[in-house]
Amino acid sequence: MLAAVITEGQLQVAERPDPTPGPGEVRIRVAAAGLNAADLLQVAGHYPAPAGWPPDIPGLELAGTVDATGPGAESWLDRRVCAIVGGGGHATAARVPAAHLLAVPEHVDLRAAGAFAEGFVTAHDALVSQAGLRPGERLVVTGAAGGVGTAAVQIGAMLGAHTIAVTRSRAHHDALRDLGALEAILTEELADIAPVDVVLELVGAATAATSLGRLGPHGRLVVIGVGGGSRLEVDLLAVMQRRLRLTGSTLRSRSPDEKARAVAAAATDLGDRWSRGGLRVPVADAYPLAEVARAYAAFGHSGRFGHIVLEMP
Ligand SMILES: NC(=O)c1ccc[n+]([C@@H]2O[C@H](COP(=O)([O-])OP(=O)(O)OC[C@H]3O[C@@H](n4cnc5c(N)ncnc54)[C@H](OP(=O)(O)O)[C@@H]3O)[C@@H](O)[C@H]2O)c1
Repeated sequence: MLAAVITEGQLQVAERPDPTPGPGEVRIRVAAAGLNAADLLQVAGHYPAPAGWPPDIPGLELAGTVDATGPGAESWLDRRVCAIVGGGGHATAARVPAAHLLAVPEHVDLRAAGAFAEGFVTAHDALVSQAGLRPGERLVVTGAAGGVGTAAVQIGAMLGAHTIAVTRSRAHHDALRDLGALEAILTEELADIAPVDVVLELVGAATAATSLGRLGPHGRLVVIGVGGGSRLEVDLLAVMQRRLRLTGSTLRSRSPDEKARAVAAAATDLGDRWSRGGLRVPVADAYPLAEVARAYAAFGHSGRFGHIVLEMP
């Protein structure tokens, strides 16, 4: 197989042996794979892959066709799938536990599917499993124009929440309303909105300083990203008086069983809707694997709507 290999802090496309699936695993012939902020951190040497995953091939999500199976995973052979992986997604083949697969609906092209799993599983886990978002509740999503944000806006709308998308530019507000946001506002307008029930914090301290203050009684704030800083002064008296819950998580570091549960829960709640064309994966740009360095540079630029995807030869 070919893979984007980290070599002295740079990415180079290199040949590697094809992986062999073990018990309960499949091998995916990868068609496309989304980029994530964690990939850039890994290349820079700040976010090593968890044990059991290729240490020098980044890539947390992918889509393709299963071309080999280990014992117990035979039913997946030849199926179009997407998956979250602990690393190794930016390659033409990957070995993945079958429990971490999602079936890709027939009408969905594999390019978009390559950027489905990380954003939708993360957003679903945060909003449903952690925040317990209910119909009619008011939801704020910061960093809403990114990969996780565009998924969260759609899940919020699907659950019947009054979803407020927050960005630092107006450029993508119409597109966010198209995805189901009832309001789209700028970061500087966040301080003026009526109290909300749930905040999905995808930016970190830069917006949490304000979003935390917008939580009403029994409000829940779920931290998923800290690209905008991880340190914040919190008024614990307000947490007590409003009975707030502050929580957060990372998907990558979870045990295989925990990941399997998160994937299964997302598949149960989102699978039908995705099949009916009710979920979209906005792809801002796609690059061939040979141009992986350009793709990573593009991911680092502000102003994108949705995902950057690598397409495999
Ligand atoms: N915990 C987990 O399991 C998990 C899983 C996936 C992702 N994440 C993290 O979640 C975050 C979002 O992921 P993503 O894939 O959606 O990233 P993304 O596609 O890069 O989107 C990030 C969004 O946040 C906005 N943003 C960045 N810095 C900002 C700031 N200081 N103020 C206001 N807006 C800002 C960006 O706007 P601009 O375009 O204007 O820069 C962009 O729209 C990342 O930090 C990522 O590492 C965590």
